[in-house]
Amino acid sequence: MGSNKYAMRIPVADHIAGIIPYPPGKPIEELEREYGIHGSIKLASNENPLGPSPKAVAAMNQAVNRLHRYPDGSGYYLRQRISRKFSLPFEGIVLGNGSNEVIEFAIRAFVQPDDQVIVPEPSFLLYRLVTQMVGGKPISIPLRDFTIDLRGMLAAMTIKTRVIFLTNPNNPTGSLITRREFESFLAEVPPEILIVLDEAYIEFARDEDTPRGFDYIHHDGPYVLVLRTFSKAYGLAGLRIGYGVTAPSVAGYLNRVHQPFNTGSLSQAAAIAALDDEEFVVKTQQTIWEGMDYLYEEVKRLGLEYVPSQGNFFLIKVPTDGRKVFEHMLRQGVIIRPMNAYGLPGFIRVNAGLPEENQRFIRALALALDDLAHTD
Ligand SMILES: Cc1ncc(COP(=O)(O)O)c(C=O)c1O
Repeated sequence: MGSNKYAMRIPVADHIAGIIPYPPGKPIEELEREYGIHGSIKLASNENPLGPSPKAVAAMNQAVNRLHRYPDGSGYYLRQRISRKFSLPFEGIVLGNGSNEVIEFAIRAFVQPDDQVIVPEPSFLLYRLVTQMVGGKPISIPLRDFTIDLRGMLAAMTIKTRVIFLTNPNNPTGSLITRREFESFLAEVPPEILIVLDEAYIEFARDEDTPRGFDYIHHDGPYVLVLRTFSKAYGLAGLRIGYGVTAPSVAGYLNRVHQPFNTGSLSQAAAIAALDDEEFVVKTQQTIWEGMDYLYEEVKRLGLEYVPSQGNFFLIKVPTDGRKVFEHMLRQGVIIRPMNAYGLPGFIRVNAGLPEENQRFIRALALALDDLAHTD
């Protein structure tokens, strides 16, 4: 009996059985143990290298004493803070356990089995995954020149299309949709389709032509749901807090599909303080922009091609399978992301870290390429 004691006996729907789960990766401590290394650095998940916003940490320390209470289920103060800071309708703001969760609300509220959801490919893996969870059909539109193919997305719309995902800047390419491109796109989308504009990396975009999704909440055209996160520029990835902003009528439906206490009191307190910590965001931007410029130069010096990015990360073309480069660098204690799971096996993705981390990354990459050139 032993070997099939855990065999699945419960009938599972095909659309669930067919899902390939998100690859989360192992904890750093476990990787270090496995590979017999220590003092490793992680430049794999586009996190903030400066740590969390200090104001957010102080606010959390204060909030700790009230942990015996349930959080404010409506997220009143955080939504009020977001509403005031960006002049947005309070009723259109929906908080999530990470902006990830708001993606799920949009799909659960508007997508029924066999409805279509148009997603750029490659982009953030969760759009496809969450669509599959409800039996919806993700329609992938390949990037063109590493950039979201808006024309291709428009051409893919059918009567069954409910949601279109756009990521600006896109992950993993860092490519940008400009203001003009976005506006011409919106002009062609019928009002029955929801546009989800994922701005997880918007704070890192340096191009002046970057549209700000908040400007399109009130416009005449299809509904836009803008996603923002505290995980990147605010350094709070571990807390899991993000939000969506949309027309209040759309938010009303997103609120119907979420549980009453989906964001915790520490997360809410930290996020309010982080929004006020502009000094931290500016320091983060400086660190990232300097880091990106340094990395571009050094990667060029190694004779490699890269994809210029508006995010805090970028793609590097490597002369061998990205997974081999990843493995080699891991053994040197430098954790980056191979792009095989994104359909780009000849690429790795790295995010900008602290200056010493960036230097170490370049040294490790040079060594990996050198060694692999001799063993491949
Ligand atoms: C494009 C994009 N959207 C959303 C997220 C998720 O962010 P959060 O931590 O707010 O769930 C990520 C995380 O890496 C991302 O790359």
